[in-house]
Amino acid sequence: MDFDPVDVTRAADAVRDHGVSAPELALVLGSGLGALAEAADDAVIVPAADLPGYPTSTVSGHHGQLVFGQLAGRDVVFVQGRVHLYEGHPIRSVTFPIRLVHALGARRLLLTNAAGGINHQFTPGTLMFIEDHINFAFASPLAGPPLEGEPRFLDLSAPYDPDWLDRAERIAVEHGIGTQRGVYLWTRGPSYETPAEIRAFQQLGADAVGMSTVPETLQARALGMDVLGISTITNLAAGLGTEPLDHDDVLAVGRQVRDDLMRLVQAVVAGT
Ligand code: HPA
Repeated sequence: MDFDPVDVTRAADAVRDHGVSAPELALVLGSGLGALAEAADDAVIVPAADLPGYPTSTVSGHHGQLVFGQLAGRDVVFVQGRVHLYEGHPIRSVTFPIRLVHALGARRLLLTNAAGGINHQFTPGTLMFIEDHINFAFASPLAGPPLEGEPRFLDLSAPYDPDWLDRAERIAVEHGIGTQRGVYLWTRGPSYETPAEIRAFQQLGADAVGMSTVPETLQARALGMDVLGISTITNLAAGLGTEPLDHDDVLAVGRQVRDDLMRLVQAVVAGT
């Protein structure tokens, strides 16, 4: 299904029909992290299937719905069940949820994902703030005719808000939660990488690798939103460990660190 900008307005109207408050902040939940939305108070669930233009996810561990509610006393929306380029969606559909939450009023975006650790210090269970990214899928939701209100040539000198990142790191320290910061490299997938690719990505300066997040960052920055990204390192990247990579292991590690990640996310939202 191709992206039609009119659907954003229609989907926003359909969401408002559920009587939800305008969210200040949107959180996109990655693989194995969907349950973070259970922390929302007074949750109102809006199924993606009710929203015109909203893409549907096909990956296990990802359900398509928006969960509106309060987190740390703030109006937020959780995007559960992000869709990925490798599922075959046009890239402008992949970032439809970002345009939608922006249309609903969100001006801050907290992106989470599961990623493979390339930096040797980033072992499974590490929480990594994304300091910068490498777009190794060479794709962008901004390609094609510019959409209303979006720049033709987007500045990406600071894709992840440096002040928000500094504040989030301080909050993590205050809560005794260990974190790292690093560079996330986006590959199109859906296969995991080869050991030779991981060696190449190491040379390029990547600390972690995954199949999401960058399109959403590009879309959000084009709309003027502030972005914070947190990767859960769920496995050593290909060739760095002894085991073959397995999506079930990715989900399981995501579940193990979920409590720490949830504490971190709640504290960051409270301090935002
Ligand atoms: N590679 C790509 N995507 C991933 C990985 C990985 O090793 N782990 C979790 N998502």
